[in-house]
Amino acid sequence: MTGHPTAAPPAGGVADRPTPGRATPGDVAGRADASFRQRYAAEPAGCWAAPGRANLIGEHTDYNDGFVLPFALSLRTVVAAAPAPDGTWTVCSEHADEPVRFTVDDLVPGRVTGWGAYVAGVVWALREAGHAVPGARLAVASDVPLGSGLSSSAALEAAVLAALVDLGGLDLPTGRRPRLAQRAENAYVGAPTGIMDQSAVIRCRDGHALFLDCRTEEVEHIPFDLDTTGLTLLVVDSRAPHRHADGEYAARRRSCEQAADLLGVAALRDVPTDGLVTALTRLPDDATRRRVRHVVTENQRVLDTVALLRAGRVREIGPLLTASHASMRDDFEITVPEIDTAVEAALAAGALGARMTGGGFGGCVLALVEAASADAVTAAVTAAYAERGFAVPGLVRVRPAPGANRLT
Ligand code: GLA
Repeated sequence: MTGHPTAAPPAGGVADRPTPGRATPGDVAGRADASFRQRYAAEPAGCWAAPGRANLIGEHTDYNDGFVLPFALSLRTVVAAAPAPDGTWTVCSEHADEPVRFTVDDLVPGRVTGWGAYVAGVVWALREAGHAVPGARLAVASDVPLGSGLSSSAALEAAVLAALVDLGGLDLPTGRRPRLAQRAENAYVGAPTGIMDQSAVIRCRDGHALFLDCRTEEVEHIPFDLDTTGLTLLVVDSRAPHRHADGEYAARRRSCEQAADLLGVAALRDVPTDGLVTALTRLPDDATRRRVRHVVTENQRVLDTVALLRAGRVREIGPLLTASHASMRDDFEITVPEIDTAVEAALAAGALGARMTGGGFGGCVLALVEAASADAVTAAVTAAYAERGFAVPGLVRVRPAPGANRLT
């Protein structure tokens, strides 16, 4: 959840770049390829890419067995890789001084730490699932900014997973990969995250948002290409330092699980919208009631957003995005002043809707704007930041891109 150091933010902010095709020098695939050749004095067997993601709506609903609607970004992490005959794993990154090496003996949760844990975790999870994982040499390059809430960790896990599956000829269909990557993060790295990020970076399609039922893992690809609508999506990197994000995330998750226990349901997904008022009366304190209200209303907002998108009524999702933000701010209490400032400034400058995206306590804001007012919104957010004395925010236009794939 917290990202990894292979993904330093590009100077000047989040830069949404074209999806790389074949490796060319300078782009992220070219950098991974060149780094492999330089580090190992050999040719990679191939390059595998996985994107960062933004979540259109549905926050902290995934681990409550609910609904989410993320889309992939064209910012990507690329892994160049080849088998290692000695059966060990070595991985270098353009943003780390030293490579990480591990052997079968290190495949014990907690043994490999730091960014290498995401790689070792994937190897560990594959072996736990009974796959004969080949030893490998890997080189990582990434344009997904670190710790901005755009899922640099899931991008690394998914790119490594795709590489190892192909190198080993493993039988692991795409639909089963998100759970395995999530297991790496939950059980090896030790972050209690849900299934959204890994599903998004693996299963998303170009020009679509991914409507995911996190209980059944059923997906529907919802057309969400704004190019023809006169609308634009802006991602604002709030530049807010993560404030206790890991501990607070775990606390929110615990309190949702405790509430589900108290209500006698398997997960908060099982509290229907029209049963919310009654459910709240059965909860012991105001904080728990607000956590539950967020999750139940957020699930409904995802369903409402999907219905509007299916009907082609894209502009009308704006108020749902803004309501989602208010719920995260007031009920789930996971926003910070930089994030709230970006949302308020974007709305005041004419955004149709704006909300924090991702786990919270920093990260990015997503704003839906008329293409013609994108510059005005950008200027307004930048000015509001200056007025409050915050670090200069990064703003970029994004569009839904494809999920993980093999490049070469
Ligand atoms: C992080 C987690 C996800 C999800 C979001 C909040 O990104 O990794 O599983 O819980 O926060 O929606």
